[in-house]
Amino acid sequence: MKILVTGGAGYIGSHCTRMLLDQGHDVVVIDNLSTGYRQAVDPRATMYELDIKNQKEVSRVLTTEHIEAVIHFAAYSLVGESMSDPIKYYDNNVYGTMCLLEAMIDANVKRIVFSSTAAVYGEHETMPITEAYEECPTNTYGATKLAMEEMMKWADIAHGVKYIALRYFNVAGAHRSGEIGEAHNPETHLIPLILQVPNGKRDFISIFGDDYDTPDGTCIRDYIDIEDLIDAHVLALDHLVNNNRSDYFNLGSGAGYSVKEMIEAARRVTNHPIPAKIGPRRAGDPARLIASSDKIIRELGWKRNYDTVESIIASAWTFHRNHREGYADE
Ligand code: UFG
Repeated sequence: MKILVTGGAGYIGSHCTRMLLDQGHDVVVIDNLSTGYRQAVDPRATMYELDIKNQKEVSRVLTTEHIEAVIHFAAYSLVGESMSDPIKYYDNNVYGTMCLLEAMIDANVKRIVFSSTAAVYGEHETMPITEAYEECPTNTYGATKLAMEEMMKWADIAHGVKYIALRYFNVAGAHRSGEIGEAHNPETHLIPLILQVPNGKRDFISIFGDDYDTPDGTCIRDYIDIEDLIDAHVLALDHLVNNNRSDYFNLGSGAGYSVKEMIEAARRVTNHPIPAKIGPRRAGDPARLIASSDKIIRELGWKRNYDTVESIIASAWTFHRNHREGYADE
């Protein structure tokens, strides 16, 4: 199949591009390189440096490249920044998706798989979170992703654009080749920050609060391996082709690990003491987020190949050891 990957130069998009190519698909990437890296894009893909808001050009690419389906990653994804600059998030995530959908309707491309987030659920008491839980985002990032889902729903009803929204929990790890991985600037995610300590780039990791209502007092998250996550996108695409039905699914591991447990696991993987210091809570962090992924397991036959946090951290470590400055090393 010929697939357009938006945001193909970003962390998740670059892994998707590579894995689709490895499976024999043709991939066209569009990315405005605002947060992504050209070096992360597999050279086998056709790359357009293009903003999804440039509807006319996107429509032209869809038509001239004979695109059959879109996988949409192009979005801003920092929760903190979304709270201080909400309009930036509505502009890129919601308006950007609006332009992309219009271009798809224009070019008669009727399938889209896209990245949504656990942040659409907001805070809930009882874990794990299933798709039946109410969506009530507590930050702008989650609100924009929910708005994108809603837009898809109405575009389906009006124009027959079939979509699958995948609601990710904490995506982590790197491609097992060690060639691509997570390289954000600034970095805010736990695992890359922990690994900066054994990489000699920071002296210790800060733990954002140890007074949460959890067994060791630190926040619990559900970490899902990047390769397992991309497998789910491929299954979602197959599902759209075979069943032509829109849907949404959670994507997590079903298991929760605390910040302290993640640091311990990283110590085992890297053989480094990784000093940690307790700091204040980070605003807006829920105490616990654990996914139920039963629906995608049951309905799409998704299964995880990497089910230990050690394996996820080890893959990230291989990437970061070889790319101490991220893609600037290349
Ligand atoms: N943390 C620390 N120290 C750090 C960095 C993070 O203790 O230096 C903690 C955070 O407080 C949190 C956990 O590690 O408890 C994980 O934090 P991340 O920033 O890695 O991930 P989040 O859980 O905040 O964010 C993830 C996704 C978002 C998504 C969100 C849903 O990355 O895209 O889940 O709530 F929106």
